Amino acid sequence: MAGAGISTPSGIPDFRSPGSGLYSNLKQYNLPYPEAIFELTFFFQNPKPFFTLAKELYPGNFKPNMTHYFLRLLHDKGLLLRLYTQNIDGLERVSGIPASKLVEAHGTFASATCTVCLRACPGEDFWAAVLADRVPCCRVCTGIVKPDVVFFGEPLPERFLLHVVDFPVADLLLVLGTSLEVEPFASLSEYVRHSVPRVLINQAVVGTFAWQPRGRDVVQLGDVVHGVEKLVTLLGWTEEMQDLMRREREKHPLHQDSTIDSLIKPSSSES
Ligand code: OAD
Ligand code: ZN
Repeated sequence: MAGAGISTPSGIPDFRSPGSGLYSNLKQYNLPYPEAIFELTFFFQNPKPFFTLAKELYPGNFKPNMTHYFLRLLHDKGLLLRLYTQNIDGLERVSGIPASKLVEAHGTFASATCTVCLRACPGEDFWAAVLADRVPCCRVCTGIVKPDVVFFGEPLPERFLLHVVDFPVADLLLVLGTSLEVEPFASLSEYVRHSVPRVLINQAVVGTFAWQPRGRDVVQLGDVVHGVEKLVTLLGWTEEMQDLMRREREKHPLHQDSTIDSLIKPSSSES
């Protein structure tokens, strides 16, 4: 199970970290409250803040870090049953984990749908508008096009139901870089069998690791990359890990040297 904390080492802020998290840095958009950026009612009144975020997360702006590649290595070794992620940055896909092994529980920017006629919008149309700071509109009915990111109150993708078959058969649960504050995702951490070790690698002890800990829980506090590195060393996989990262990084050089800072600190000309 993964959350925004696995992508902060790639330069993408998480949501809830005080000071650096996205939710503490949206004041200039006059949102009634930070979560409004992911609420449909607000989106239809003012879609701009959401599309500014979308532009920042444009595929190619960021690259996976060792955490993503560690999960990819688990897959290469036939050890990854499934990766359940809350992230919408798409870095799991970029790291080479196949779609069949992924559950993008809060959706993805990889596809987009018209909010009026529900037709799928071609990616190139959607991104052309977003990159030009225009609100993307449907070719057919002119309705606003929204990427298939799950907003608060929207149902999760059907693939999320895979948890019903996956969690009872898992024999290890890794929980990486999430506050475990958003349901129904957070509760997945309780669905593995009680005999199964749960390993949390995170800045803070969160969710049921804090309020309903189990005897076989392992908690590694601190930076997620540091924690993963430690695990990789213990497993004797350091060289394989480095080889994989070298190969993959040659395949995916950054398209732009951009950071999400422009969302957090917009130029003074923006309202
Ligand atoms: P949060 O921002 O709530 O939590 C991120 C967690 O990662 C926190 O516990 C941080 O302390 C920790 N963290 C951050 N950087 C870290 C690092 N370098 N090393 C170790 N830990 C680190 O993000 P999520 O749990 O993913 O919803 O949030 C869940 C959902 O809330 C998101 O998917 C999003 C948001 O509303 C939607 O997009 C619909
Ligand atoms: Zn339409």
